[in-house]
Amino acid sequence: MTDTPDLVFVGLDRNLALDLVRATEAAAIAASRHLGRGDKEKVDQAAVDAMRPVLATISMRGTVVIGEGEKDEAPMLYNGELVGDGTGPEVDLAVDPVDGTTLTAKSLPNALAIVAVAERNTMFDPGPCVYMEKLAVGADLAGVVDFEAPIETNLDRIATARGVTVPDLTVCILDRPRHEEELVKRVREAGARIKFLLDGDVAGAIMAAQPGTGVDLLVGIGGTPEGVLAACALKCLGGAFFGRLYPRSDTERNLARDRGYDLDTVLTLDDMVRSDNVFVAATGITDGELLRGVRYSPDTAITHSLSMRSLSGAVRLIETRHRISTSNLVPRALSGMG
Ligand code: FBP
Repeated sequence: MTDTPDLVFVGLDRNLALDLVRATEAAAIAASRHLGRGDKEKVDQAAVDAMRPVLATISMRGTVVIGEGEKDEAPMLYNGELVGDGTGPEVDLAVDPVDGTTLTAKSLPNALAIVAVAERNTMFDPGPCVYMEKLAVGADLAGVVDFEAPIETNLDRIATARGVTVPDLTVCILDRPRHEEELVKRVREAGARIKFLLDGDVAGAIMAAQPGTGVDLLVGIGGTPEGVLAACALKCLGGAFFGRLYPRSDTERNLARDRGYDLDTVLTLDDMVRSDNVFVAATGITDGELLRGVRYSPDTAITHSLSMRSLSGAVRLIETRHRISTSNLVPRALSGMG
């Protein structure tokens, strides 16, 4: 029987997040082989090499919207690359085979592999802007925080909404010189605690939106690709995300303006990803508050993953035991065979 176009296009009614977990598991296992070896390029390459063939087995016609960069600098999973098995729904893909390449290379906490899928043309394209200002909180605080208000005001509001005092709050901030003067100093003066991230603010944003992680909000400037991925995850978890593009130079600012970006706009979760049918999978590479890293025994790798879908609100925590051998480090089950 030959497929008619109608039969090929089945819509986004299947939970792709369950398929995507295989891709993040493969990336996490491959990346974790380079744990602590000090080579972040190798970490990333291994993860990309492992993730791409798994994505190719998934029934979707995907376009990488947030990937490893432009085609001339990224041979695989580059922005605009078509992925999937060429059947099924047309979708946007945001991939970060390793959020935290340095964390993995140095064996530090909270590195993860993450992939998000949404209906075609619904994910934000940050264009030339590498960084954005971010504020992420849990669903209960969506109407409480104001992106443009001073950090002190937001801390007061969050404390009141949660029935605690400001010193009870923990703010997640990327540990960067750009945050020292304004943000870090003011949060400290306000009396709140800080959980510094050495890298990996996708995990930081998810922590802010997840009860029980001890993090109340994530603020600061981080990567725009990670912003889109975090927004996709928060759409599934029910959190709130606000952002604003943050050009690094006049050249970047002018380029963005020429391409029609309004640099003053405060972007909401719906601006970052318009679709209400978003799928996200994430697998821990190194141990963290959210996910455990990859563990090994002689013939087994154990992974911990999150699989989420915004439409149903389903959030699954998945522990997988993968059979491996020294000649086959990417388990058979992740090559589309199992
Ligand atoms: P990697 O690309 O090395 O994995 O780093 C990721 C990351 O820490 C993101 O989580 C964060 O948004 C961004 O880099 C911050 O960029 P910078 O390190 O330039 O401040």
